Amino acid sequence: MAIIGSNILQAQYLLARGEVVAIPTETVYGLAGNAYNEQAVSKIFTIKQRPTFDPLIVHASCLAQVEEFVTHFPAKAYELAEHCWPGPLTILLPKKAIIPDLVTAGFDRVAVRIPDHPLTLALLQALPFPLAAPSANPFGYISPTTPQHVHDQLGDKIPYILSGQACKLGIESTIIGFAHTKPIIYRLGSMSLEALEQLIGPLTMAHDSPGHLQTPGSLVGHYSPHKILKIGTIQTLISQYQDQRLGILTFDQYYKEVDPEYQVRLAPTTGSLEEAATNLFAALRKLDQMPIDLILGTYVPNIKLGRAINDRLTRAAAKFMEPR
Ligand code: TXA
Ligand code: MG
Repeated sequence: MAIIGSNILQAQYLLARGEVVAIPTETVYGLAGNAYNEQAVSKIFTIKQRPTFDPLIVHASCLAQVEEFVTHFPAKAYELAEHCWPGPLTILLPKKAIIPDLVTAGFDRVAVRIPDHPLTLALLQALPFPLAAPSANPFGYISPTTPQHVHDQLGDKIPYILSGQACKLGIESTIIGFAHTKPIIYRLGSMSLEALEQLIGPLTMAHDSPGHLQTPGSLVGHYSPHKILKIGTIQTLISQYQDQRLGILTFDQYYKEVDPEYQVRLAPTTGSLEEAATNLFAALRKLDQMPIDLILGTYVPNIKLGRAINDRLTRAAAKFMEPR
């Protein structure tokens, strides 16, 4: 069983031996292994039961380390990295051979970021290699935002969970790549499009650009609870499913038709999108464990972080949609 602790030396020791360790980041917990060691990377795929066509993000300690494993760092991408790292932005860059093809699922670009978490930054600085790390959940399930979430699902498969409390942002990093100099967004995430556009101008979404690549993180049917999740107008859904035991994921209000015990508010303290993002995955997990048949949810305003929240809600509900 995994030990939960905050001993960087212990994590460092295990990673240097090619083991896989859970690490905290500001977005979600990661399942980390030596990005230069194909066997360690292979363990990550096995533990997560992740198909090898879904590439991993490589986490680095500093810009100089990134230059060790990318062939070049285009000026526009470099400026963005300098401005945003450490932080929740992942950039696709051309990889050197030192990154095994398994990490990138055979693509010639590697996804890179410097995470903004003191424990993980200290760990990365102590290691002579970067860390490949997907989110530390079984493939397709809700991402973990606390050490206990990781322990609940992968505790019997890894030796150590480096514990850094609950993740402060709660939604994965935004992924950006460049086609020549044109910025393309591959995944919505904790860095809002509005914030990015202020820095680099208009953005294109990958699914709107011709010949874009699809990877599972950008496919529907991801981030899902086991319980059926329906997204829509809560009031309408309640009357539609009144014969079932209902749970509700709400942004800022309670519904009198349903027991308050089975309602989880995303932003009870400030009512902000930031708070809702931080709480989203934990709220879905909580509802998934309740004695209910159905989770009803609703979209939040589709601006700033709301876009990433709505994106995750859509994907989480996708496998339960009736075929049209
Ligand atoms: O915030 C995050 O990004 C978290 C923390 C742990 O850093 N990591 C994370 O990793 O969300 P993961 O594996 O759950 O999602 C990574 C996604 C893949 O599903 C894929 O869509 C995309 O990143 N990706 C990774 N490498 C890529 C590549 N070379 N080209 C295109 N997309 C890539
Ligand atoms: Mg993931």
